[in-house]
Amino acid sequence: MTEPSSAKRIVVLISGSGSNLQSIIDYDFDQKVEIVAVISNRPDAYGLKRAKNAQIKSLCINHKDYDSRELFDQELATTIDTFKPDIVVLAGFMRILTPVFVNQFKGMLLNIHPSLLPKYPGLNTHQRAIEAEDSEAGATVHFVTAELDGGPPIAHVAVEIIDREDADSLQQKVIKQEHRLYPAVIDWFANDRLRFDGQHAFLDDKVIPATGIRL
Ligand code: GRF
Repeated sequence: MTEPSSAKRIVVLISGSGSNLQSIIDYDFDQKVEIVAVISNRPDAYGLKRAKNAQIKSLCINHKDYDSRELFDQELATTIDTFKPDIVVLAGFMRILTPVFVNQFKGMLLNIHPSLLPKYPGLNTHQRAIEAEDSEAGATVHFVTAELDGGPPIAHVAVEIIDREDADSLQQKVIKQEHRLYPAVIDWFANDRLRFDGQHAFLDDKVIPATGIRL
């Protein structure tokens, strides 16, 4: 079905399975969102297949074809621009982006991170939460800034860490909740409820608390 011209144009960046991408494809945004492209930095990303199955334009820009992070990011930015997006959604995109790239898309770049930010930026988040004997773990959607996983949180979901939980079972519990979280945040954006002033995230013109809204 053709989306109305007022639909927000979304470009999704992936590197792997793309289960979060799938949750966005499957969500009913009431025609306010159009996924105009899915871009992977890895040719074998299963998410590319998900995009094709949904008849969404998909392409790969293989980071291995570029001599530097800067050159890769330049090509990525130029390609994204051709799709004239309102929002760029990082969904399991496993590349650190250069400040130039991040600044170019400031206020329209979202990421999902599998921890309750500001706890555990970076990798192995679930293992780290278990080792710290935290009682809960989760995932956070945040605006992207040049600081890795450091931009202001918008919303998060949490799950309980039970006795003798291992990182795999925790990951499975959390990712299920991610699939609820990401579309909900994009829906706010699609309805013009979300904003970033360069420092703080706002929902309905109210500053969002430092850990994000719990969904
Ligand atoms: C998710 O856990 C997300 O939080 C992290 O990477 C993973 C991507 O999973 N950034 P998928 O590719 O969406 O299945």
